[in-house]
Amino acid sequence: MDYKIAVIKGDGIGPEVVDSALEILDAVGEKFGHKFNYTEVLAGGCAYDEYGEPLPEKTLNVCKESDAVVLGAVGGPKWDDLPGEKRPEAALLGLRKELGLFANLRPAILFEALKDACPLKPEIIGDGLDICVVRELTGGIYFGERGFRDTEMGKAAYDVEVYAEQEVERIAKVAFDMAMKRKKKVMSVDKANILESSRLWRKTVEKVAKDYPEVALDHMYVDNASMQLVRDPKQFDVIVTTNMFGDILSDEASMITGSIGMLPSASLGENNKGMYEPVHGSAPDIAGQGKANPLATILSMSMMLKYSLGLLEESECIEQAVTKALNEGNRTGDIAGTGEKILTTAEMTAAVKANL
Ligand code: IPM
Ligand code: MG
Repeated sequence: MDYKIAVIKGDGIGPEVVDSALEILDAVGEKFGHKFNYTEVLAGGCAYDEYGEPLPEKTLNVCKESDAVVLGAVGGPKWDDLPGEKRPEAALLGLRKELGLFANLRPAILFEALKDACPLKPEIIGDGLDICVVRELTGGIYFGERGFRDTEMGKAAYDVEVYAEQEVERIAKVAFDMAMKRKKKVMSVDKANILESSRLWRKTVEKVAKDYPEVALDHMYVDNASMQLVRDPKQFDVIVTTNMFGDILSDEASMITGSIGMLPSASLGENNKGMYEPVHGSAPDIAGQGKANPLATILSMSMMLKYSLGLLEESECIEQAVTKALNEGNRTGDIAGTGEKILTTAEMTAAVKANL
């Protein structure tokens, strides 16, 4: 089969990790007889530099016409002083909103070989970790009304957290469907002791739960959840939460799996179209040095094959190749223990490729 893939390399280490991921994708295509046709478009800081806007119309159109979108990372100190709507991050939010990608899946899996890279004690992680954070991605405070007003305390700025029932319903369904394929446990994370929007969230999730009698639903306040994630992460299977809480908790979840350089993500909408990107950012401090960990982006390709293209065997093939490469002891700087040899991005990519 032929597939149309929109490619947004972005800023910082984005281009390096995307190049690695496409190299792996091409190798998988060759092995299984698929052709991936890439259209490269700009978004983020590099798009601002070229066109004066972070998300050009053309980029959006190419993404809309593709089967899936691959994205590296956007942002960097160079663009930090731009107004909100011109910042590289605005491109990411625009893509999510315009493509209707309301469900963000962020699986945090601790690979057996990386147990030593996990900052938690061995007795806490036991035989491993496998948590899936389901983050709402097109609502909440990220997209609520915002602005400034004058107050007695001087100029004030505000951002509104707002959730509609149907927005909560659809993300809850994604979480419950996911749980059905896993350990049948959903933890909904909110701040219902304080926020009205959280109380509606909680009530709505409970309503959706009635359609999933086999799934055990629990609720947790976000402050407690952030503590429980390091105290006893094994209690979690699927975590479903708001845009903002999901942003924060998924970074935390990623670190307990060894490194944020390992975490892939899928952003999905109503149809199969999706955007696939590593959870990590553009890491300007190591950009262009060839030492970034490409595994999060490579694993994002595995998610793309599974969720957007329905190529399950191919998806599995990438996952296994990554596992084998790690088992052989291949390590980039972020996951290397003391004294372990540190590979470059290209060397790690070659190690995965050799195991496909
Ligand atoms: C993420 C990132 C983004 C977010 C930023 C770069 C806009 O942190 O995908 O987690 O906050 O969603
Ligand atoms: Mg984040």
